[in-house]
Amino acid sequence: MTAQLIDLQPDNSTLLEESIAGLKATPRHLPCKYFYDAEGARLFEQICELPEYYPTRTEIGILKRFLPDMARLIGPRARVVEYGSGEGLKIRLLLDALQNPAAYTAIDISREQLRLAASQLSRDYPDVDIQPVCADYSSALDLPQPHHVFERTVVFFPGSTIGNFAPEEAVAMMRRFAALARQGQQPGGLLIGVDLKKSRQRIEAAYNDALGLTAKFNLNLLRRLNREVGANFQLDHWQHRAFWNERQGAIEMHLVSQREQVVHINGDSFSFTAGDSVHTENSFKYTPEEFIALAAQAGFRSAGVWTDDESLFSVHYLTL
Ligand code: AVI
Repeated sequence: MTAQLIDLQPDNSTLLEESIAGLKATPRHLPCKYFYDAEGARLFEQICELPEYYPTRTEIGILKRFLPDMARLIGPRARVVEYGSGEGLKIRLLLDALQNPAAYTAIDISREQLRLAASQLSRDYPDVDIQPVCADYSSALDLPQPHHVFERTVVFFPGSTIGNFAPEEAVAMMRRFAALARQGQQPGGLLIGVDLKKSRQRIEAAYNDALGLTAKFNLNLLRRLNREVGANFQLDHWQHRAFWNERQGAIEMHLVSQREQVVHINGDSFSFTAGDSVHTENSFKYTPEEFIALAAQAGFRSAGVWTDDESLFSVHYLTL
């Protein structure tokens, strides 16, 4: 049976309002959640395959190696709720490892990718109640209840997407995950991928790849604003910049104006001089101890942490 998609995707007026508010603010910024239109989602998939971009392949390696341990901690008949399900590759590893998973709710902002992933999963996992929800999950959501009986709810948040939220936002989000993990006959948990702190060179290389795909991904945000809200950014007047901010513990992505220019968006004008930058993304990195302390603020305690041999990436299982 094809899973019915629940569409809570924000409309263009939200994109317009949030972008204008960000460009009027100091420092200027644009929300990174808007990277993922169809083209952005496709570029991100390609970034995940790059030699410099270690997080995806390292996390998959950790999952493949340690999922039997993780599944034992999670237990049978789980309902899995995944935030930012993307292509739906990692969930297959988890569903294969779990004992009789009952339901899977996939939440993603990228509608077409979600629809395709959900229909393939419904075909391949006919005993699991698959529920695709197209939504911006940075604020609270009303999720559908599964049709199947389940024992506990496990929130799955791989990819270190938690790093794209400032620490206080990450705590707020994990509080919502904790509330969700309380739904079910038993208290559940949070299985989450978190990128680790490491050398500046290694991190900066991952966000400044030789092929320039990360630059394209960053600039695609301007292309999207041109297309969807009638902005007139000239893409060749902007350059991608990514650097490690040691004090923040985050890699920052910016778009830097290459000249003096004025951009118009829906009646508003924004002036830039050469060197002015628009901050488009933060990607926070944590030591295992820092992340456990952050999750504790949301009511979670550590039940297990797994890393790779080079200590590049971590996967945590946190319980209530
Ligand atoms: C989705 N997120 C975890 C990615 C990251 O590494 O912060 C997005 C990304 N930005 C540039 N490259 C990848």
